[in-house]
Amino acid sequence: MRKRILTGITTTGTPHIGNYLGAIKPALKLVAPDNDSYFFLADFHALIKQTDPNEIESSVKNVALAWLSSGLDPKQSYFYRQSDIPEVHELTWILNCSAAKGLLNRAHAYKAKVAENAQSGGDEDKAINMGLFSYPVLMAADILIFNATHVPVGPDQAQHMEMARDIAGKFNHTYSKLLTVPEALIQNEVSVPGNDGRKMSKSYNNIIPFLCSEKMLQKSIAKIITNSLEPGDSKDHNSCTLFQLYSFFANKEQIENMKQAYVDGIGWGDVKKELFSAINNEILPIREKYLELENQPDLLNDLFSDGARKVRPQAQELVGKLREAVGISKIV
Ligand code: TRP
Repeated sequence: MRKRILTGITTTGTPHIGNYLGAIKPALKLVAPDNDSYFFLADFHALIKQTDPNEIESSVKNVALAWLSSGLDPKQSYFYRQSDIPEVHELTWILNCSAAKGLLNRAHAYKAKVAENAQSGGDEDKAINMGLFSYPVLMAADILIFNATHVPVGPDQAQHMEMARDIAGKFNHTYSKLLTVPEALIQNEVSVPGNDGRKMSKSYNNIIPFLCSEKMLQKSIAKIITNSLEPGDSKDHNSCTLFQLYSFFANKEQIENMKQAYVDGIGWGDVKKELFSAINNEILPIREKYLELENQPDLLNDLFSDGARKVRPQAQELVGKLREAVGISKIV
């Protein structure tokens, strides 16, 4: 059977190098002529955390541009916005009625918030909206609406995938086997360090931006923290942020040479220069494509409506069957 690969990207913030290495690059590798691939922007999921409409809009744009510049070809994959497929919400409600509240009570993100509230001695529901609570149901709808068979996600999404499978199974058991129970393709965790050595994350303020000018890239690399060993001092490449980042972009031979250079006492300034050119070499064509697309909002809007036009009939067909299965259809 043909694999149907589907994954969503929550549109909060602007992608950084860590997102590129951990999500964009591995997902695009799965695109192949004998698979169907569905990539979408989970913009309704973003509303859970972001209440600034301008931020939502610019994130949708930046995330879309990041994927397109990195090689997502809308002729080979379906590429669309979640919000352009209203049937997702119809399915969400149907699934809400199959999803046990107890199941959702156990969701890690929700539980963490409750625990945080309990720790600070406040009301345990403080600042928790229903969007956060039912996040896994919307995610299940994203997946089930297109009968996805395989869903590439990071290890942090494994529980959501179990929930999607559970909810689909419950629906199939109660009504009829209309939903495809999807498999998770858990991607290896790519642990990309930020400029302070901790995991690269917007919330740590330690990111290296992805779609930026050469100058900005240079500046971000200059900021990476090193120890105070001098040129000529032998250095340890293990646990070195510069080396870890370098190894994501360099080939085997370059990596071996760099290890030797550490032993031989290469200076931090020179490592940074090498790191810059390794990253820049890979990003150069991506940056060029980005600059070409950036100022063409019509192109993005056309792509979105094109994507929705292609996939919406599939969603409508499934929802039609589901309505019938639950008894909401033409009276006979
Ligand atoms: N929850 C996913 C994340 O934060 C994003 C997402 C939303 C998703 N809907 C999805 C991923 C459906 C895969 C399939 O990474």
